[in-house]
Amino acid sequence: MPIIKLNAIDSTNSFLKEMVYNEVVEDYTVVIADYQTKGRGQMGTTWDSESGKNLMFSLFKDLSIHDVEFPFYISMAISLAILKALKALNIPDLRIKWPNDILSADKKVCGILIENVIKNRLTSTIIGVGVNVNQTDFDNLPKASSLKNITGIQYDLDEILTSIINYTKEYSTILQQGDYDAVKNEYEDNLFRKNKPSTFETVEGELFSGFIKGVTKYGKLLVLLEDEIVKKFDLKEVNLLY
Ligand code: BTN
Repeated sequence: MPIIKLNAIDSTNSFLKEMVYNEVVEDYTVVIADYQTKGRGQMGTTWDSESGKNLMFSLFKDLSIHDVEFPFYISMAISLAILKALKALNIPDLRIKWPNDILSADKKVCGILIENVIKNRLTSTIIGVGVNVNQTDFDNLPKASSLKNITGIQYDLDEILTSIINYTKEYSTILQQGDYDAVKNEYEDNLFRKNKPSTFETVEGELFSGFIKGVTKYGKLLVLLEDEIVKKFDLKEVNLLY
């Protein structure tokens, strides 16, 4: 897997997207930067990260040979790969907050931004990963933290990247072997607030409660509502508050 290292770039996702449009890119190519001037997060948010302290990278995966439901399996696989890499560092109380934030207790330590690219009618995907590693100041982000803030240890970024890539290969092999259920089951086993009473906010600002039961293969969240009905929610429809 080629790894392209950059000092500063607007966004590793944007850089890799541009590459994909202009040339043939090998599966699992990684673009990593010390600093992003326009780091992007989910739902049009920004992703700010101090220079040289955190992991910011994007990974390419061609989806043309796969089924339409494959993108969410890739998302689950990368979430699990990161979870395993962080577990190996003994980061406590790790969970995946749907769809793919990685939390330690209730603090976000990693975010993932998945973007599809369509070229010559073929779809491929770009998986952007931001892991808060050695940054200690999160003054304006009360729900965020870093590995260093949690354990007091200063980490080697290259070692964590290598570990995430190795676990990504492990999960890719599982997917290539067609064992999709194994990935989905493990993802659901690690889901934040699964089977616990949770509060959600709709895009219209309404609050409701329910129990998270799991996900569909297309990435919708299954929530058991108070009237005993299980409803499927899209990421654009609801936000899990707590
Ligand atoms: C989120 O939780 O909102 C997703 C954050 C994703 C951030 C990463 S950092 C590397 C890659 N390049 C970007 O511009 N965004 C992703």
